[in-house]
Amino acid sequence: MSEITVRKARREDCKAIRALIQNIILQELADFQKIDGPQFDSKALERDGFDGQPLYLCNVATSNEKIIGYALFYYVYSSWCGKSMCLEDIYVTPDFRGKRVGSMLVKAVAKEAVENGCHKLDFVVLNWNPAQEFYRRLGAVDATVKYQGHCYRFSEGDLRKIASDCE
Ligand SMILES: CC(C)(COP(=O)(O)OP(=O)(O)OC[C@H]1O[C@@H](n2cnc3c(N)ncnc32)[C@H](O)[C@@H]1OP(=O)(O)O)[C@@H](O)C(=O)NCCC(=O)NCCS
Repeated sequence: MSEITVRKARREDCKAIRALIQNIILQELADFQKIDGPQFDSKALERDGFDGQPLYLCNVATSNEKIIGYALFYYVYSSWCGKSMCLEDIYVTPDFRGKRVGSMLVKAVAKEAVENGCHKLDFVVLNWNPAQEFYRRLGAVDATVKYQGHCYRFSEGDLRKIASDCE
């Protein structure tokens, strides 16, 4: 197997990253029938990550220059501890799993976070996802259990409804 490297994503990677996002959806829909497909295309990824102030950061794992995994993350701000980071997605193509690529991707995010003064890295793992064990092996704690929190959301429809009530 050729050497696997992790590097920052480039604008021209967005099509491949979007294809991997689609993989997750297809796999999860097939396996679990539980989520809706992504609502945006690679142009949106290009715009939001590479035009003006980036809304997200992304690293890709490559083998023979082919993208075989990615981690997408972004800065947030905590009123408790200040600068923090959120991991939105991490994905490794099935052929490359179990070869530490996922760990390399998380470690690169951790490095970016530490070097830029972040105090924590948060992420959500759905109940049914066995990847919880992957994070636990790297030392993550289940914040839902530890901090007794629930993750809430306003859908776009809900947002529009309550926003329309804002004077
Ligand atoms: C989760 C994922 C990124 C892990 O990538 P990977 O390259 O296979 O992980 P690694 O090889 O670095 O594994 C590191 C350790 O975690 C364990 N591990 C990895 N995936 C696991 C899983 N699904 N279930 C249980 N343990 C897992 C490995 O056995 C290994 O354990 P060890 O340290 O005792 O040897 C990959 O399985 C994936 O892309 N899954 C689909 C997408 C997904 O669910 N992402 C997370 C969304 S929150």
